[in-house]
Amino acid sequence: MSSRPEHVESIELHDTDDIGSNPSANPHIETLIAKRISRRQVLSGSLALAAGGFLGGSLVPLETWAQSGPRVRLGFKEVPASSDDTLVVPEGYTAQVLAPWGTPIFPGAPRFAEDASNSAADQEKQVGFNHDGMQFFPMPRLCSNRGLLVMNHEYTDANMIYSAEQGGRITPDAAGREKVAKALAAHGVTVVAVRHCGNGKWEIIKHDPHNRRITGNTPVAFSGPVSIDHPMLKSTITPSPRGTLNNCSCGKTPWGTYLTGEENWNAYFGTDDFSWSATALEARYGVSYSGFGYYWHRAEARFDLSQNRNELNRFGWVVEIDPFKPKSTPVKRTALGRFKHEGATCMEHKGRVAVYMGDDENGEYLYRFVSAKPWKEHLANGESPLDHGTLYVARFHDEGTGEWLPLVHGVGPLTTANGWQDQADVLIRTRMAADAVGATRLHRPEWVAGDARTGDLYVTLSNGAGNNAAVNSGRASNPYGHIVRFHEDEHSDTAFNWEVFLLAGDPIYDPAVPMGQTVFGSPDGIMVDGSGIVWILTDVSNGSLNMPMRGFDNIGNNAMLAALPDTREVRRFLTGPRGCEITGVTMTPDQRTLFVNIQHPGESTTYWNEQYGPPSTANPSAVSSWPFGRRPRSATVVIRKKDGGKIGQ
Ligand code: FEO
Ligand code: CA
Ligand code: CA
Repeated sequence: MSSRPEHVESIELHDTDDIGSNPSANPHIETLIAKRISRRQVLSGSLALAAGGFLGGSLVPLETWAQSGPRVRLGFKEVPASSDDTLVVPEGYTAQVLAPWGTPIFPGAPRFAEDASNSAADQEKQVGFNHDGMQFFPMPRLCSNRGLLVMNHEYTDANMIYSAEQGGRITPDAAGREKVAKALAAHGVTVVAVRHCGNGKWEIIKHDPHNRRITGNTPVAFSGPVSIDHPMLKSTITPSPRGTLNNCSCGKTPWGTYLTGEENWNAYFGTDDFSWSATALEARYGVSYSGFGYYWHRAEARFDLSQNRNELNRFGWVVEIDPFKPKSTPVKRTALGRFKHEGATCMEHKGRVAVYMGDDENGEYLYRFVSAKPWKEHLANGESPLDHGTLYVARFHDEGTGEWLPLVHGVGPLTTANGWQDQADVLIRTRMAADAVGATRLHRPEWVAGDARTGDLYVTLSNGAGNNAAVNSGRASNPYGHIVRFHEDEHSDTAFNWEVFLLAGDPIYDPAVPMGQTVFGSPDGIMVDGSGIVWILTDVSNGSLNMPMRGFDNIGNNAMLAALPDTREVRRFLTGPRGCEITGVTMTPDQRTLFVNIQHPGESTTYWNEQYGPPSTANPSAVSSWPFGRRPRSATVVIRKKDGGKIGQ
């Protein structure tokens, strides 16, 4: 092993996911949007539209969308944009902090230590760090007062999870191994029973037998075309597969299980062996010497690329968890493809399940999996509907139409003659298979939400702020992001229609954004509630948040907004504390309780760092002290209307 120069060890960076690693010349949706707008200008004779060069929400015919169901209207007063270190909800609403990072969820579990001195073993019995995608599972069915809250924990921040005495660096010794163990224990998924205890307040049921932590160390199984015995997954260092990492967004299956997406898993791997270099496959997934600067490989050979590179291929999957069976093994469902999975949104048509999935990196694709048969038939046969079906990738046409292209071995270019061995090979190299069939590149496809009433689907394209010219297709960067709406007559059809539903941003800085539209940036989370309100959660990166020089001063801290599917009115519903993103969101069946996650309050944020200095293990509260005026902690917030009414209406 040869040595190489020390990196600048800025630990726990996260916002590198917008740089991109797609070298293909596949079409980019921004080019298609530009073509659509110029055609529309010719048809309408309007020159006014040319200024933006972009298809804004108000330019699209409304009549083809959102026809079904009663019209819903927003019934709350918008909250202003905020740069304060607090959480704000509209007048007439209450917000309660529930299940912050470190909350003990088992009888006798250790209490959260304010100085971050909890051990790895303690953390395994406490709620994880950086809450993300989340689902409420009523218990019993359709109950709105009791259920299981299942949530992801995306990544950890060394400035927050280690004490001042420990410091943030990972060292190649027992102390370093303990630190990696604590980080692994803070990742994964929390299952926790909760109940409404009256007066609008909710509480954790600590003695509930369903309570569970799934971490980066929990034994997992593989199912579908890719087996754990595949030559590209075998490992002598870690013979049995363990763990799920960078759990971003999620999904809920019609049969009552939870799906979690493994997003920036490449972040955790690295090596100090300078003779290592990435294969084409590894480069296509953004694997590098230093990952995102976690340096876990220095303490754990499991994450050292030169010693255990097959471990990489065990990540990038959708993992199925049955929250009602606390002893069940989480299963990696390989038929759903391997990429940087954001979420896995399930829709149903004629009994078949369709799962919609974004690959969140600049220039990546949108995917859909459809089960071969009705899911009840699969289950009756003793097989998973997620192991039998077809994976597709989206190609957008500039007419506002699109098609789902199958990623099936032997179909189109994915033949043995072209070097594709079998379906397992297609799935391990999903991104490259999608390149080969000519999928359309997108600006960071994040969550997908479906409207159960209309079948309309919404995908957030967070932003195109990356600096990779090849990925950006030569077009000026798209710093604020937008939301694309698409529709299939049936969720198993290969044809779809699409349009831009909303263009995010601030019209002061970007004339393409409709004047008067509520300002917001980087749409990421999205959910359509049972009444059709489109809830949008934002994740402006911490390099841009609040920065006048980047056009984000009026947008303020990250926020949650509500939009109407027909008029496209957008109203700001909630603003978060400093440095956070707003993410995971779910509702009770009666729509009278909303759970939303506040992730990474107080994370290193350029704008606030310049005023207060960056957060560190010695000063974790430099940017934020939300929610309790002390060390910042990700948390779920329970939102209720004081009059007990439906949220947002
Ligand atoms: Fe984990 Fe793409 O947000
Ligand atoms: Ca996200
Ligand atoms: Ca994000």
